[in-house]
Amino acid sequence: MNIENTIKNSFKDHLIHKLEDRSARIGIIGLGYVGLPLAIRYAQVGYTVTGFDIDPLKAEKIAAGETYFKHIPNQRVREAVNNGFSATTDFSLVGEMDALIICVPTPLKEQREPDISFVTNTMETILPHMRHGQIVSLESTTYPGTTEEELKPRLQHAGFEIGKDCFLAYSPEREDPGNTDFTTSTIPKVVSGTTPDCLQVAIALYSGVIDQVVPVSSTQVAEMSKLLENIHRAVNIGLVNEMKIVADKMGIDIYQVIAAAATKPFGFVAYYPGPGLGGHCIPIDPFYLTWKAREYGVNTRFIELAGEINSYMPEWVVEKVGEALNSVAKTIDGSRILVLGIAYKKNVDDIRESPSVEIMKLLSAQGAMVEYCDPYFPNFPKMRNYDFKLQSRTFSAATLQEYDCVVIGADHDLFDYELIFSKSQLVVDTRGRAKEQTEHIFRA
Ligand SMILES: NC(=O)c1ccc[n+]([C@@H]2O[C@H](COP(=O)([O-])OP(=O)(O)OC[C@H]3O[C@@H](n4cnc5c(N)ncnc54)[C@H](O)[C@@H]3O)[C@@H](O)[C@H]2O)c1
Repeated sequence: MNIENTIKNSFKDHLIHKLEDRSARIGIIGLGYVGLPLAIRYAQVGYTVTGFDIDPLKAEKIAAGETYFKHIPNQRVREAVNNGFSATTDFSLVGEMDALIICVPTPLKEQREPDISFVTNTMETILPHMRHGQIVSLESTTYPGTTEEELKPRLQHAGFEIGKDCFLAYSPEREDPGNTDFTTSTIPKVVSGTTPDCLQVAIALYSGVIDQVVPVSSTQVAEMSKLLENIHRAVNIGLVNEMKIVADKMGIDIYQVIAAAATKPFGFVAYYPGPGLGGHCIPIDPFYLTWKAREYGVNTRFIELAGEINSYMPEWVVEKVGEALNSVAKTIDGSRILVLGIAYKKNVDDIRESPSVEIMKLLSAQGAMVEYCDPYFPNFPKMRNYDFKLQSRTFSAATLQEYDCVVIGADHDLFDYELIFSKSQLVVDTRGRAKEQTEHIFRA
């Protein structure tokens, strides 16, 4: 074996060895919905983990053994800290890590174009502190080609030889906050590397914490697989939202239709209608592919169509509120309306892209006096496009009775639905919680 191969293999073998015997130090960059549970998981199995974030509050909370997400209890953070998890805003510690896993946001710009500046900024920040023998793995959702076109050249420009003295991987995250059926370790994880040796190191990085690692042949395959998963969801939700409107016009119960179709043991997957898409992923990620496909002269028509139908849903809900109020000779203008659940989905404290907020905005614009009740948000959070100076109303029969109409936006399990349907003057249910429509319960 020549000397070059010996050096190359020594970096790889040494890193794999450290990852396998768990002496490797793991750096997680971005301690949000994705990064925090991943950091906790690494700490749980015995790795020493350092979380890096630009938000000093997160580092402070972790130092105090406290959580900042309702769905992750203090106890889990405390246990992780006792097992060697710490967090910092000091990126000079990057050199002490063996693995660097990037979990930073990938939002859209105003014109629905990918904003990968968080990823590229992270890379620029960590590069001066990197050393030979480390692996960088990107987990943020992004368009196919990001790892190859944005991360690889930056590492090369800094003098690294990828697959030799530095390893580069892409492994999309599949976190589903609030879903208690799966944990970080039990969700299979797609893993890819820029070179075969990068893939080998990446497999070692994830095999210690994930039950089933799924290697694929390139970073582009891994990047696009994540987008396909989210586009599949966005398109099917768009389809069922359209079906909901058709069923409504025909006087057919869409939930009975779905339940009947779902008895087919093959070829059908049940999706449920709702007030529109929300969260950091499904409303955003599909447009990462749309943007990249344009470079190849391809229009992603399914994505556009699903986007159109799904983004119409808040207006559909508002039309239903109008219909409900009309039925008792009232108008949206001047009515008091309570939105239950402002999170983008049930049982989480995440309001990003929440359709409930859009519904509140539309109702207010039509003259309604809108308030909300959501135990996950005692105060209405400041958002990029909205700023309702409101505090959550207490959930009680008396509160429900105060309003001309109650809209179920996010169907948290904390709400008592019997109370909602029995005490509210009118209910507009966007989540199929009501067994049937009645004179005072409208589905939207
Ligand atoms: N939330 C989900 O359920 C989910 C699921 C799968 C994939 N993803 C993807 O994972 C990525 C992260 O999403 P998230 O929901 O965890 O985001 P998040 O906003 O909850 O967390 C991101 C964290 O990164 C930090 N950050 C931003 N810039 C940074 C920088 N330069 N250096 C260090 N830290 C920085 C932020 O302060 C924040 O704490 C996104 O690409 C998202 O699409 C999210």
